[in-house]
Amino acid sequence: MEIYSPVDQITFEIPSAIELYIKRDDLIHPFISGNKWRKLKYLIAKAQVENKKTLVTFGGAYSNHLLATACAAALKGFKSVGFVRGEELDASNNTLFLCEQFGMQLIFVDRIAYLDKHALFQKHFNEHPSAFFIDEGGRSDEAILGCAELIAELPQSYDHIVIAAGTGSTVCGILNGCEKHQLNTKIHAVVVHKGLAEIENYVAEKSTYKNFQIHSEFHFGAYAKTSPNLISFMKNFQQNTGILLDPVYTAKALYALYQFIENGTIKPHEKVLFIHTGGLIGSLGMKSLLA
Ligand SMILES: Cc1ncc(COP(=O)(O)O)c(C=O)c1O
Repeated sequence: MEIYSPVDQITFEIPSAIELYIKRDDLIHPFISGNKWRKLKYLIAKAQVENKKTLVTFGGAYSNHLLATACAAALKGFKSVGFVRGEELDASNNTLFLCEQFGMQLIFVDRIAYLDKHALFQKHFNEHPSAFFIDEGGRSDEAILGCAELIAELPQSYDHIVIAAGTGSTVCGILNGCEKHQLNTKIHAVVVHKGLAEIENYVAEKSTYKNFQIHSEFHFGAYAKTSPNLISFMKNFQQNTGILLDPVYTAKALYALYQFIENGTIKPHEKVLFIHTGGLIGSLGMKSLLA
């Protein structure tokens, strides 16, 4: 798949001595948006090499990853199955509706069963050797490899890169990309939930690049929790730049970036890149919060 992800400069509420750029991965594809194609690319290649026919994956009711997998499977000639966390749910929300439009079979499971994804896969697909397991959020070494490629697309070097972290695969890829290209950019991973230790361990296991900082103070209470302050920041940014954010990932990470400018973490005469990791369809599930 040919990808389109330009780097745009943003001046909105940025001191004139600082240059802010945004890597527009949100423009890669309407449904395989942000980091999603990068994360799926090598997983799909592996599934093709292994002659698999069905991509099986996992997500919550508003999972951007489920939707991206459903669409990518349809695009690449696979069937797809999505285990959805919550047996009380149905496919009436926008994300799950679109998953079904792309032919994904949805299996709703209770929150306890959902915890053990390998057990679910074994139970349902033991007899199906053509089924291919993709972890929640696409978390995998293949995802890290795909995300590392972003660094080679950058038109210049930056003093800082700021990015949202959920499973940590994307940030590991960015760190490995920086290592490969011998950069000394400082990477800021903004953790959008309370699972800081998990991300720290994952990064320590998967990357040797040392110039990074993991920020744990911007989760706004927990995964998918927000605050009036965050929502008003997000709306203000959107209305002044024409770039949509989502309240679960990108708004939190960009909010953190503006704080870094305010508190001196990012200094005058430095260049900073924000990576827009997509997530816009998932945020339609939070319309009531944003209204
Ligand atoms: C929009 C968006 N941004 C960022 C992330 C975080 O990526 P990762 O899970 O690789 O840390 C996700 C989750 O996959 C996401 O959907």
